Parts: sequence; C-alpha cells; structure tokens
Amino acid sequence: MVKVAILGYGTVGSGVDEVILKNREKITLSVNDTIDVKYVLVRKKFGDLFSNRKFVDDFSIIEKDKEISIVVEAMGGTDNAYDFTKRCFKAGKSVCTSNKELVALKGDELLEIARENNVNYLFEASVGGGTPIIRPIMKCLAANYIKEIKGILNGTTNYILTEMVRNNVKFEDALKKAQKKGYAEKNPAEDIEGHDACRKISILSNIAFGDKFKPEEIYCEGIEKITLDDVKIAEKLGYVIKLVARAVLCEDKKVFVYVAPHLIDKNYPLAFVNDVFNAVIINGNLTDDVMFYGKGAGKFATASAVVADIIDCVLYKQKCIDIFWGNGSKNLLKPIDTFESNWYVRYEDNRVKITKDKITIKEVKKQFAHAQAIMRIL
Ligand code: HSE
Repeated sequence: MVKVAILGYGTVGSGVDEVILKNREKITLSVNDTIDVKYVLVRKKFGDLFSNRKFVDDFSIIEKDKEISIVVEAMGGTDNAYDFTKRCFKAGKSVCTSNKELVALKGDELLEIARENNVNYLFEASVGGGTPIIRPIMKCLAANYIKEIKGILNGTTNYILTEMVRNNVKFEDALKKAQKKGYAEKNPAEDIEGHDACRKISILSNIAFGDKFKPEEIYCEGIEKITLDDVKIAEKLGYVIKLVARAVLCEDKKVFVYVAPHLIDKNYPLAFVNDVFNAVIINGNLTDDVMFYGKGAGKFATASAVVADIIDCVLYKQKCIDIFWGNGSKNLLKPIDTFESNWYVRYEDNRVKITKDKITIKEVKKQFAHAQAIMRIL
C-alpha cells in the first residue's frame, strides 16, 4: 500500500483525492499496488470527510510520518509551498505538483535537493493542465534537438480572445465573462498580462534547452491592449489573434523566449485552438512539428496529470528521474530586441500596414512611430 498526503484542498488537491478514488482500479493496475490518501493538509481542520483520510493543519505530522512516501503539493504560491516541498525531500518523500509559479521560480534548486535525497520532484500538471507536454519533451522527444516551442498556454486569455472574435465583445466585457465563469484566477493580471504563460514557457524552455530561463527575464506582453478593432481587422486579413508563448533556438545555440499576442494565419493549426483549450507545437530536428492539444485547466484534467506523476513516483521508487534542467549558468536567453518578425501595424484611424520584411521591435517602432498598435505575425 502506497500512502500519499495532499497539501491543500482546493480545485487541484480535491481533484487528486477524487481521482484516486474514482479511478482506483485502473491506478492499482498501473502500479500493481494500491494508492491511498492518508492525510490532507488544510489551513483549518473541518472534520474528516472520509473515514480513511485525516484532515490535519500541522505539516509536521505529514513530515514525520514515515509511511508517507509521496506528497502532492497543491497549495500554490511560493512561501509555504517552497518550505514544505524542501522538507518533504529531506524527509525522503517525493513531491508532485501543479504549482507552476514555484516550479518556474525554484525548479532548479528543488530538483537538486530532490536528487540529493534520491526522491522525485514531478510537475507534469504545471504546464498544459491535463495535456501531456513535459513528459513527451523529456521522454518521447528525447532524441531530438528541440528547435522551437510555440503554444497557447493560457486558457483564460484564449477564452477572452475567442469571445471577442465570436461574439463581437470588447476586451473588458469578455474578461468579465471569463471571471463569471470562474476561468480567470483570483488576480486576472496574472493571466491577462501574460505572467502565467510566461512561467509555463519558462518551464518548457528549461526542459527543452537545459538551462534556467528566469520568468522575470523573459519578455512578456499580455492581451489587455487588444481592441475589438484589432480582432476584426485581423479577421478580414485572414488572421486570428492569439497570445503565443514561444521559444526559438538560434544558430548560436541561444534561445529567444517570449510571450506576446500574435496574428496567426487562420489556417495554421494554432488558429483552431479556441475557448479555454491549450495547444503546443514542438519542433524537433527529427520529428519536425508535433502538436499537443487539450484542456489546460480544470479539476479532473489537472488531477489526471498529478496522479500520473504519483504513478511514476511509485514506479521509480528509490530512483530519481533525471530531469535535464540547468541553473542559468549557460546564459542561453537571447535578448528579444534582436528577434525579427513580420508585424501588423495599426494607426488610430484604423489604417493598417503589414511589414514586408522581418524586422526587430526597435525597427518597427522607428518606422511606424505613430502607430496605435503593433503585433507580431506568426
Ligand atoms: N489561469 C490558468 C489558465 C490556469 O487560464 O490557463 C491553468 O494554469
């Protein structure tokens, strides 16, 4: 019997608990053992919901219990989550998480501590929710040099942009609808300003290129300035506007990593990704483009990825899964000012220009000094 503890009982924590019960037979078959949730860490104890798990408000109970070999960190944030994750490793417990903020910020350090203690730190759910993306990069595409990653990694902004296109609503109204539906997180800025997508492309780049791409150093632009005029003009020109997170390997082996809204040809596969769905295209030197598409959030989709990590922790007990991730010392991040694109340029009176050649952001700003909006074309 494998005993698990869950830290936090929000959408992800409760989802993991439910999935372990709901898919018990299949999970048992996968690991040839049974997985049981022994504890759930909550801020305030509110009585035991199920007879076989204990709701506790003191992390040290979990830390000291030798029976617990795997901990699910579903608390979010970077304070207690960071401290508890380190303490789990030092107590010989593996940790599975969907906490992209912590993974993007401290992943290198936490992976190192996990390695020293011969346990695992797995975070499939931190990017793409239920859509497999981290393991495919690490395993299925392991023989490839990854040349490019481009994806729609934030469901909330994709929902807002889809609403603007389909229902002719302004950005502000589409955002309100996203909040009403519960898609936008507590602070909508994290999503609409691109920070959430930025953390996710940072994680994918770390794994694909083996360095640390710090979220705070990645160029990040959100969708808050996109107007209904931009959406409509783009449509007339045969494009859709999407928030794209992108990493491009250059000949000098450095990598441009950035998040920004793009005009995408309406026949390109990413243009068909609507609502809260996510999609990522990985270009490997052997495979060419491979695309992953699915639900980027949601209780069961996210729990599906976390439980898959729990399964791997059971299968790789006493063995640390090596994750190719540097500490930033290779300095692979290339300054975005030198990245050349084609551009969409719109003036206040809605006159539009599309640049003929690929040019840098500095050049486009110089050539079209009075533009009201500029956006890259993918
Ligand atoms: N706020 C995120 C999104 C949730 O909208 O995609 C999943 O990470």
